[in-house]
Amino acid sequence: MEAYIADWLHLGLRWLHVVAAITWVGSSFYFNRIDRSFRPPVPPVDRVSGQLWSIHGGSIYNYSRYPTGPGYVPDNLKWSKWESFGTWVSGALLLAVVYWWGAGVNLVTGGPDGLSPALGILVSIGSMVVAWVVYDVMCRTIPSDHVLSVAVAAFMALLLWIFLQIFSGKAAFLHVGIAMATLMAGNVWFVILPGQKKMLQAIKDGTIDRFDVGASAKRRNYHSNYLTLPIVFAMIASHFPMTYGSAHAWLGFILISAAGVAVRHFFNTMHHGHTQSRWLVVAAVISLGAIVLLAPPNLAAPANGPVAAVETGRVASIIETRCAACHAVKPTLPGFNAPPNGLVLDSLQAAAAHAQKIRQMAVDAPLMPPGNLTGMTEEERALLAAWIAAGAPTK
Ligand code: HEC
Repeated sequence: MEAYIADWLHLGLRWLHVVAAITWVGSSFYFNRIDRSFRPPVPPVDRVSGQLWSIHGGSIYNYSRYPTGPGYVPDNLKWSKWESFGTWVSGALLLAVVYWWGAGVNLVTGGPDGLSPALGILVSIGSMVVAWVVYDVMCRTIPSDHVLSVAVAAFMALLLWIFLQIFSGKAAFLHVGIAMATLMAGNVWFVILPGQKKMLQAIKDGTIDRFDVGASAKRRNYHSNYLTLPIVFAMIASHFPMTYGSAHAWLGFILISAAGVAVRHFFNTMHHGHTQSRWLVVAAVISLGAIVLLAPPNLAAPANGPVAAVETGRVASIIETRCAACHAVKPTLPGFNAPPNGLVLDSLQAAAAHAQKIRQMAVDAPLMPPGNLTGMTEEERALLAAWIAAGAPTK
């Protein structure tokens, strides 16, 4: 029953989180597009630095940008704050249900020198705080925009490297996505919103013409803009073992994130009105490099021909003792009420039918059993590898 309720919480929160994230990323993309598309009004309009005409849903719209406001505080002034708040909070709850509640399965590796689930949870929580504090200090202390961007990217790469050492592969990818999303949400709540409140006050006080929004908010907006695609990749890649399970997971992630940044840059240039398509080519080349880099290694076929009959028996017993506790029609391990991903491994025949997936999850990388809950040994993995390389015989 507990597992059933956890599944519904998981599904409900995931639904909420995806919808909230669509509104956040959507409004971020939308305002970026508008902001970069403004052109000076002809004839000039007082206080308006840019204007944009747009058509949507059967109406024509006219946006005007007032960098210092229209001279008064409009009554019907819409803020963008709940999108980021809703996304971050629903994400944190989802993290708690899937990766803290299920820490032994999803968060830690379960190796002999790995973190305990409790320590894993503490590191998971702490990583969000540390990510924000370090980023915030960097933004306040590094004057050059270029140096700062490189430093932020290097910091994220370092975090990912650390996460890959201590968390399961998918938790590592996810946590670097969470770190980036925390920077974005922190930028909104701790820098941009307070800055906007001060701006409104300056309008009321009549000091707006001397008010400086500050480079700080602008450069943080700039980071958020380029982080969106890497974040979404980090979130969805945790469902693809070929990425986080690879021996080159770290570099693979960096390359694909760089491709995401290049795609974002292409769109930015397009909205500015001087499209630079070469950035799409850059993204394609980098992505191709990542695909080649992350390709699974060739399995060496066993030197002494097909696996002997007695070893087939051992493979069957490995599947039964190490996998079937979860991958059964009725799992016996507490916390599972259905075979994970619908994958039933209750016989050698069933395992043979899924040999390539098993290879990905239990041979190319030790992703299964999660947290090594059923205590699989290296020798057993080698035997599975030999069995799969021999064509997964069932006799
Ligand atoms: C503690 C429970 C548990 C045990 C034991 C376990 N698995 Fe899994 N397995 C899972 C969960 C949960 C998932 C889905 C989540 C994920 O992809 O990380 C999964 C997913 C998989 C997948 C991916 C299926 C797909 O369609 O994407 C494969 C393959 C797999 N397991 C193979 C194995 C093998 C082989 C063993 C034994 C060596 C094993 N598992 C042992 C829980 C378990």
